[in-house]
Amino acid sequence: MTKIRAAITGVGGYVPEYILTNSELEKMVDTTDEWITTRTGIKERRLLKGEGMGTSHMMEKAVNELLHKTRTNPLEIDLVICCTTTPDMVFPATGNLVSDMCGLKNAFSYDLNAACSGFIFGLVTGSQFIETGKYKKVIVLGGDKMSSIINYKDRTTCIIFGDGAAAVLLEPDTSGNGILDSILRTDGSGAQYLCQKAGGSRRPPSIETVTNNEHYAYQEGATVFKYAVANMADVSVQIMKQNNLKPEDIAWLAPHQANKRIISATYERMGIGEEKVLMNIERYGNTTNGTIPLLLWDFEKKLKKGDNIIMSAFGGGFTWGAVYLKWAYNASE
Ligand code: UT7
Repeated sequence: MTKIRAAITGVGGYVPEYILTNSELEKMVDTTDEWITTRTGIKERRLLKGEGMGTSHMMEKAVNELLHKTRTNPLEIDLVICCTTTPDMVFPATGNLVSDMCGLKNAFSYDLNAACSGFIFGLVTGSQFIETGKYKKVIVLGGDKMSSIINYKDRTTCIIFGDGAAAVLLEPDTSGNGILDSILRTDGSGAQYLCQKAGGSRRPPSIETVTNNEHYAYQEGATVFKYAVANMADVSVQIMKQNNLKPEDIAWLAPHQANKRIISATYERMGIGEEKVLMNIERYGNTTNGTIPLLLWDFEKKLKKGDNIIMSAFGGGFTWGAVYLKWAYNASE
């Protein structure tokens, strides 16, 4: 029997209109465009402005574009896996809200939180539902409103993060394209270096937690950097090895966009040149769960049917991993 694989058959995305530039940040915290550019590769990031708009607002737009582009009837969607670290509310799941907003009345949906590795964790999870043969149309969403948990007085975090969301459609493929392999890893001992300290059950919100700025993202940047460089490169090389992929076999690397220096360390260890690396960090910064699907959205026209693509990510948790897939379609002009 021919093996069923899950292939990405469409991409939709959304980034908010408001642009926060490095020169704007120079007026807000003690930093410079030169420092941010050389240390991270980021020039600007998008922020979602407006009362009462959460991550679901961006995801709704991404899903509607995806449905439109793929000419998919919302009622045909079986499942939505919503990868986010900044849900609209602690509960219910943001995936439930997005499904309702987009009329996905026959889908069940849930949230998945693996911080910056969330999208690839979601992609692999979604692919299992397709591979069983039981589900035919699965949407995997990745996105965050990072501005909701960023302290714009903290120069070590506010320069990095941005807001954005994107969605992919997974469908069965029996022609050899689709998701072929993955490595997913977690290590909870790294939690202390990148986390939001309060707001959960361990430390519920109080006047004290608010006064101490414990509802903002906390990051020990240099420590996270060290783990990110080692682990993202390790899994990217490992997935090449276990699939007998040489650098020349790889069409594209789609890496998590946290820091251009982490991306460079990864592609150099893989032995591939920068021309094969998808990057938009200079325009969007680190959108956490949004980075990898936003790359697919931005560069969809460059991706050709049969292209070997490696995705890799590292994030809070710690979480990290890599996915090997063959792209399944040529985007129409
Ligand atoms: O996406 C999920 C996982 N997250 C990541 O992968 C992020 C990993 N970490 C990083 O990308 C980098 O560590 C940062 C971009 C966050 C920081 O860059 P760094 O090169 O590791 O800087 P550092 O933290 O070692 O700080 C070096 C210096 C310090 O000053 P002193 O102590 O040497 O005087 C910082 O206070 O740079 C200072 N600094 C800044 N200076 C100007 C920190 N942030 C800034 C800033 N502008 N925005």
